Amino acid sequence: MPTLTGTLSYIKNFIQDRDVAAITPSSSFLVERVCKWIDFSESATIVEYGPGNGVFGEYILDHMTDDSTLILIEGNGDFVDDLEEKTADDPRVVVVEGLAQNVKDILAEQGIDEVGYILSGIPFSFLDDEEQEALLERTHDVLADDGKFLVYQNYNHLEEPLRQHFSEVTKEREFRNIPPTMRAYEACK
Ligand SMILES: C[S@@+](CC[C@H](N)C(=O)[O-])C[C@H]1O[C@@H](n2cnc3c(N)ncnc32)[C@H](O)[C@@H]1O
Repeated sequence: MPTLTGTLSYIKNFIQDRDVAAITPSSSFLVERVCKWIDFSESATIVEYGPGNGVFGEYILDHMTDDSTLILIEGNGDFVDDLEEKTADDPRVVVVEGLAQNVKDILAEQGIDEVGYILSGIPFSFLDDEEQEALLERTHDVLADDGKFLVYQNYNHLEEPLRQHFSEVTKEREFRNIPPTMRAYEACK
């Protein structure tokens, strides 16, 4: 279950910033359901769009190899401060205050041209069709040929666009989460 401090920081940021789009972090059940699609035995560059207070990041850092890299791209300044504090001692992590839409420039600044995995819980439904399309295209472009886009969303609106951009898409439901309407997708390039 999410901690009380985690939930309180979500509620505060949710009130001030519509893009936060949740009143509590994802459950450990959802985190495990999504992260089982990552091969942690291999060195990898992993990007997360919208890490919030870092529940996915914490799990990924516990499992990824010492020579892997985790790039956290978060639009909310309060969450960025929190993530920087939590990961300050881990040289495998790069925290970026910015938008997922700028993923190409953000990776170029890090000298990275392709990555193995991109996770995302940002509210795609807040983007108009053109913005969604552009973000899916950019995401597809920066993934390696065997890369995966791992997405979780409240509703099923992303399934069709994912199927149009990616060669293979697996969908699962996770009810043990707030809200209990979560869909998780493994989209392979
Ligand atoms: C629903 S919360 C999910 C947070 C966390 N990943 C979790 O599962 O608990 C969405 C997060 O995405 C961030 N966000 C929303 N739109 C974004 C964007 N375009 N680029 C980067 N972060 C964004 C919000 O600030 C928030 O932290």
